[in-house]
Amino acid sequence: MPAFSLASRTVAVLVLAATLLAAPARAGTLYDELGQRAGLTRIVDGMVHRALLDPRIKDTFDDANIERLRGLLMLQFCVLTGGPCRYPGRGMKAAHADLNLAPRHFNAMVETLQDAMDAEGVPFWTQNRLLALLAPMHRDIVAARSAAKPGAAP
Ligand code: HEM
Repeated sequence: MPAFSLASRTVAVLVLAATLLAAPARAGTLYDELGQRAGLTRIVDGMVHRALLDPRIKDTFDDANIERLRGLLMLQFCVLTGGPCRYPGRGMKAAHADLNLAPRHFNAMVETLQDAMDAEGVPFWTQNRLLALLAPMHRDIVAARSAAKPGAAP
């Protein structure tokens, strides 16, 4: 009997140890799940690459500094997802104010991000966590256009 109880306790300790060892992987930040800086860099590269080929939005980037945009997007995603970064770029309202963007442009951009994450094998659930963090930006990125409407230009 004592031998059985020792075995039971040993099993219990092993199960507990396995659970604790597995915990850090599950408790990681979204930044970790997206592959940290290297993973985010690949995702952003894929996103920008697709945006520049997408007939719905590519013209918007004609005057943009693409290298700078790539770097800032990566840092922005890093900060948003809990990574150890600092975002030195402009706010979303200021950055997009002159671009005259409509909701369809925003949706097209989100699609390029989804496609880039698909290509990197990011699970659907993880993708949605990043998209949920970007969704509130819709107001600032697209609102610049509505703000320009009243008083309508000739
Ligand atoms: C979730 C959506 C979006 C996010 C997170 C995002 C993020 C950013 C960031 C971080 C910058 C750099 C800011 C800076 O220059 O200091 C930027 C700039 C820019 N974004 Fe977006 N953006 C989004 C949607 C869009 C859409 C829908 C378009 C156009 C279809 C767009 C076009 C641009 C362009 C052209 C610039 C460069 C502006 C310039 O160089 O003056 N963005 N965006």
